[in-house]
Amino acid sequence: MIRFNLNGQAHALDVSPDTPLLWVIRDHLQLNGTKYGCGIAECGACTVHLNGAAVRSCQIPVSSADSGEVVTIEGLTGPEAKAVQAAWVANAVPQCGYCQSGQIMSATVLLRQTPRPTDEQISEFMRGNICRCGTYQRIRAAIHQASQALHEGA
Ligand code: FES
Ligand code: FES
Repeated sequence: MIRFNLNGQAHALDVSPDTPLLWVIRDHLQLNGTKYGCGIAECGACTVHLNGAAVRSCQIPVSSADSGEVVTIEGLTGPEAKAVQAAWVANAVPQCGYCQSGQIMSATVLLRQTPRPTDEQISEFMRGNICRCGTYQRIRAAIHQASQALHEGA
């Protein structure tokens, strides 16, 4: 039995310990905001938070989440998340949208760790999140805007 907290709710699941966390989130718990892209930890579409870190859930066995705290896009809360989501809307960041929940999960952790990131710090932190539609300029602008909003207490 694997036990973890997902978006503030306790879960106990009878699944094989080596099942990828992404499968458990999408197939067992029916939360489909987290996407499957490459399956090999290269694209970032499956990014969730595990104990506060942005991780690639396609390559994390669910056993790694045992007794842990998992947050998906459906449960993302807090000032940084709110600022990121508002900036994403204001900058009309998504095109097809497929990569964007992963982008938002990563951007939120970036701002928690680095409240005023430079362009270089954004590029470095976000480079594991690939966007086939090429929304990188708007992602960068939105992260700066979210950072500014947090700084101003908006
Ligand atoms: S689906 Fe996990 S990194 Fe691409
Ligand atoms: S918005 Fe289409 S892949 Fe990023």
